[in-house]
Amino acid sequence: MAVRTSAQGILSDENAAKREEIIQMMIKAYWMELETVMSYIANSVNPDGVRAQEIIESLRTDVQEELGHAQQFAERIKELYGVVPGSMDFKPEQSYLQPPSRQTDIVHVIRGVIAAEDGAIDHYNAIIEATEGVDPVTNDMVIAILRDEEGHRRLFEGFLREYEAEGLA
Ligand SMILES: [Fe+2]
Ligand SMILES: [Fe+2]
Repeated sequence: MAVRTSAQGILSDENAAKREEIIQMMIKAYWMELETVMSYIANSVNPDGVRAQEIIESLRTDVQEELGHAQQFAERIKELYGVVPGSMDFKPEQSYLQPPSRQTDIVHVIRGVIAAEDGAIDHYNAIIEATEGVDPVTNDMVIAILRDEEGHRRLFEGFLREYEAEGLA
């Protein structure tokens, strides 16, 4: 039995191909968020030293935000008639966020977080472009998420500036 689709908008039959394109982009976003959750948990626990505490606190908060983003992407995949993939489809990509050889190497963590946020910012800008004028709900949702990622990036850029100013990065 065929799924009965809405007559209008992104849920209509006529937009099936566009919907599929958006779902694939959302699945990639979903994996990116989940890998970020893993990386941020590790990097909010591993670092040692007085200077690590600010980074640890910040990443702890981000873990919850990134998890919330993953859940939003999952919900939207379903609303677009997609299926949220199972864990066997997961392929890691964040080589730059692996634990450093010394756990006091905070600059490594800061640079890794900035790289992860840059990846998210690039991909979410692409989703916003792809959904412009055809899927306003996804468009709106991803704009709000993009704001969070830009905020995360800006915060860590500030941390990096401090280390650079002291000749430590
Ligand atoms: Fe996120
Ligand atoms: Fe983020």
